[in-house]
Amino acid sequence: MIAKLILDKKREGKALGSAEIREFINGFTRGEIPDYQMSALAMAICCMGMNARETADLTDAMMRSGRCLDWSVPTADKHSTGGVGDKLSLVIQPLAAACGVAVPSLTGRGLGLTGGTADKLETIPGYSCSQSLERFQEIAANVGVSMAVQTDEICPADKKLYALRDVTGTVASIPLITGSILSKKLAEGAHTLVFDVKFGCGAFMKTVEEAKALASSLVGGARAAGRNSAALVTDMNEPLGFAVGNANEVVEALTMLSCGDRRLDDIADLCVEFAARMVALEKCIPHGEARAMCLTKLKDGSAKAKFLSMVEAHGGDMNRFEALLKQPTAKFRVQAMKSGYVSAIDAEKVAKVAFALGAGREKAGDKIDPLAGVTLAVKRGDKVSVGSPLATLETTRGQEALERLASDILKAFAITASRPEPRKLIEAVVE
Ligand code: URA
Repeated sequence: MIAKLILDKKREGKALGSAEIREFINGFTRGEIPDYQMSALAMAICCMGMNARETADLTDAMMRSGRCLDWSVPTADKHSTGGVGDKLSLVIQPLAAACGVAVPSLTGRGLGLTGGTADKLETIPGYSCSQSLERFQEIAANVGVSMAVQTDEICPADKKLYALRDVTGTVASIPLITGSILSKKLAEGAHTLVFDVKFGCGAFMKTVEEAKALASSLVGGARAAGRNSAALVTDMNEPLGFAVGNANEVVEALTMLSCGDRRLDDIADLCVEFAARMVALEKCIPHGEARAMCLTKLKDGSAKAKFLSMVEAHGGDMNRFEALLKQPTAKFRVQAMKSGYVSAIDAEKVAKVAFALGAGREKAGDKIDPLAGVTLAVKRGDKVSVGSPLATLETTRGQEALERLASDILKAFAITASRPEPRKLIEAVVE
């Protein structure tokens, strides 16, 4: 294979052959194709695109760059493109497991404004997301659900390629994003893959159109690889629920798993919808039947029991988590300066404040503050008057940081005289 000829071909907008894509990715993974040629191909793909067959070939080559897991039991996983206050996986995965579908879920540590699912789980003292793939498989098979971080054995090509894309302006490409997300999910081996592709100011995809295009590409790619798949395109202009941080999001997930707060009904219903899609696709049963099963398993405590069993299997200690929540922190309550209806809460602005409080990480390896974050007191549509609480900021970094950030969080709230339209969480379904 001559790498330069492949680069010429893609630069001219021609479709690459399956063998060309496979050999390029294999050569890059082995270190035979240098970074500058891989970067050039990434840029050519960004500019000229790839058709569905090329995208499937790219995904397959990346998946095969490392270990691929096999399952002999029914398995499903849900992947989210990431959002603000997105603790939904902590509810969805044990809920699907409670319905008899094993959920092997390799997830990420967050980089940027908010923590990832792994960071949230690791606020539970003792919980370790770093498991060998053997132990991960054992927990998922025995408990029904395991949420761990991917090891270096999974998709080494993606790790190497993403590092280049990050510094060469080549992240924003649907085929490259599809290859990156899907190769990792396919390698994990779940037979059913459901995607939550978010759009809006708090999401990776800013517009509905971009999110729909990514959703179609992910579902098409998963199907091409022989998996069951569906995606929901969901709104991420406002935080999901009230908690944005890490430990506070675990608390909120536990509240949902206990059906403990009617104000969380909207996002709890979204969790039921995702879990139902996983269960329906994997068990080949009607969607309505899967939804009814999920609602029962949420209400009767089975999903919460699965979550707690997973925590125990990963070494987590809920008593120590309760003690952690009682540790002293600096808190600051922000109040409404005018009366009216909360008509918008800007997810990105809330995330920036949570980050400044210590809830996110700037670079890989940075420590996050488990107790740092924002807890909203209101949601869109609520009526407030002057002095009504809007949010509480929390950090272990001291009181001074809080007072500086109070004016930033106020800018996240739009308060208007008229009541806004109710929020529509699901914009589109791709199946
Ligand atoms: N997340 C990924 O894992 N890969 C991308 O390319 C973009 C988002």
